[in-house]
Amino acid sequence: MASSELGLKLRLVEVRYGAPGINLYKLAACDGTSLPPFEPGAHLDLEVAPGLLRQYSLLWPQASPDCYEIAVQEAAEGRGGSRAWHRLSVPGEIYPSSLPRNLFALRPAAATSYLFAGGIGITPIISMYRKLVAENRPVQLHYWTRGPEAALFHAELGAVSDGSVRLHHTSGPAPRLADVLVNVPTDAPLYCCGPTRMIDAFDQLTVARPLELVHRERFAAAPIETGPAGGFSIRLARSGGSLEIGPNETVLSACLAAGIDLSYSCEEGVCGACEVRVLSGSVDHRDQVIPPAARATSTVMMACCSRGLTTLDLDI
Ligand code: FES
Repeated sequence: MASSELGLKLRLVEVRYGAPGINLYKLAACDGTSLPPFEPGAHLDLEVAPGLLRQYSLLWPQASPDCYEIAVQEAAEGRGGSRAWHRLSVPGEIYPSSLPRNLFALRPAAATSYLFAGGIGITPIISMYRKLVAENRPVQLHYWTRGPEAALFHAELGAVSDGSVRLHHTSGPAPRLADVLVNVPTDAPLYCCGPTRMIDAFDQLTVARPLELVHRERFAAAPIETGPAGGFSIRLARSGGSLEIGPNETVLSACLAAGIDLSYSCEEGVCGACEVRVLSGSVDHRDQVIPPAARATSTVMMACCSRGLTTLDLDI
């Protein structure tokens, strides 16, 4: 994402304890104006430190019109973003931010929605749960953590007594995702957010379900898939002309070097910011945004990592 696209300036106004290693951060508009509203599943691209852009799910509902709230888990093996929050951020600090973007939105449905969360993946999922409950829509939430002490929002979720919330503690006997999914009707919309292993399992377990009902979001980058990295050509339908993409380049890097402005954020195939429409050609999808089962029919690609198996005509 070009820094010019970081349209908001947010001031950290409050830090709260959430769970071990997880803090909740409230960010307010620097000029005191109302911030753009958002729906559950939306996230911000926040510049945590100069040049260090990270994505954080927004907690819904908004506590006040001029404030957003995010949860950040400190990851010892992380890439620096969570450490910057936990070790360096103090109220008053100002962060450039994108507007809310939503690649993980709830869809209208009459059937019960099934929500699956692992660890810090609860942040978009609890937002969806709150919204579905507020709208009196049927929902089942399954949340896996090591134990009750590790669960974010444990007091809120533990107090639900209508059977719509199942808290699974993996330090003891707990059902696996597979054990739960086997009993979920095939017409149910599914939403999953959690660590890489959980999303990989979710992808495998839902491969036979209708694609339009299966939604998931990764919060950490899996290694970008590799494969033969030959060069290929792209033709630019809107800008005109064509570019050669070398074995060590990406569509994104080649376009930026040629002065063509493309949106991007994570550059790791996770966030979906660099999505471009493919008008023709065959794509070697290497991102984590498009579920494997949807790749064959996908009409978009992630410019930061996916490659052409043939010359690609792109809507750029
Ligand atoms: S920039 Fe995030 S998926 Fe490409």
